[in-house]
Amino acid sequence: MEFKHTPVLLNEVIDGLSINKKGIYVDCTIGGGGHSRHILSYLEGGKLIGFDRDEEAINVCREKFKDFSNLTLIHSNFKDAPAKLQEMGINEIDGYLIDLGVSSYQIDNGERGFSFLHDGRLDMRMDKTSSLDAFQVVNNYSKEKLINVLYKYGEESNAKKIVENIVERRKIKPIETTFELRDLIEAAFPKKVIYGKGGVSKKTFQAIRIEVNGELSGLDKVVEELSLMLKKGGRGAVITFHSLEDRIIKNTFKELATDCICPPRTPVCICGHKAQVKLVNKKPIVAGEKELNENSRSSSAKLRIIERI
Ligand SMILES: C[S@@+](CC[C@H](N)C(=O)[O-])C[C@H]1O[C@@H](n2cnc3c(N)ncnc32)[C@H](O)[C@@H]1O
Repeated sequence: MEFKHTPVLLNEVIDGLSINKKGIYVDCTIGGGGHSRHILSYLEGGKLIGFDRDEEAINVCREKFKDFSNLTLIHSNFKDAPAKLQEMGINEIDGYLIDLGVSSYQIDNGERGFSFLHDGRLDMRMDKTSSLDAFQVVNNYSKEKLINVLYKYGEESNAKKIVENIVERRKIKPIETTFELRDLIEAAFPKKVIYGKGGVSKKTFQAIRIEVNGELSGLDKVVEELSLMLKKGGRGAVITFHSLEDRIIKNTFKELATDCICPPRTPVCICGHKAQVKLVNKKPIVAGEKELNENSRSSSAKLRIIERI
């Protein structure tokens, strides 16, 4: 299957990074290289380091960018990026991009088991070498743990009923495919809401994917570490696709951009915290009408940018 993915908020990211052509840039989620291709086109003497935890994405980029000697590709979780960069002797960077979530290639490829629109074995691992997959979450988690995953990572108000359906079915046989799971989710809703906007499976699939890939844990820490690696004037850009991710980025950037972070009503500052960055945009940047018409994935995208001071 061809690796297809249209980069979201491309112009906004490139403008926002304000690229220094001799700089060192990090694309933490290189995917199909849509953003990276444009970053590379601005570099003259600078370099780009691209991470992805999906080996297929790394292999595709290796082929696509074989003529670029200033690109280094690393198959790794970007949460290890600060350590990996330091191992390479890179202690300061000019910019980073994190474009969170999954690529269209991953979603549209039934074999990867991410989507309720394509049948495939329940998998959802971005990194095929990791041990936890969606099959195990759906079939082995206790009822209480599964309900909690759906509430916490999907904000699914119908979690209890959905999980009851799952638990009843798995007493008879394991739930093996995305379509089996989708049918059990739909059975938890009245018929008239099943075909509403986005489908009733969206939140449950999102929740299981986040659990499988541990997407939110440590996100604040790595964003802080990368931001502190920026040179003065360097920029960090993060694109999120749902409110849980966006809240983490918003709060992390806000704290990095604030002088005192003492608890409210502390009479005198005791934390000594000093702002390390400034917010380039106070409100998140969202897709304009043209992009919304051309790429439905852009509808939930929010871009936040900071600059090191
Ligand atoms: C939205 S796509 C990025 C698309 C890319 N910007 C482009 O224009 O082609 C997200 C990519 O990030 C990768 N990814 C998500 N979380 C990751 C993590 N924690 N570490 C490394 N890669 C991750 C996914 O495997 C996927 O390939």
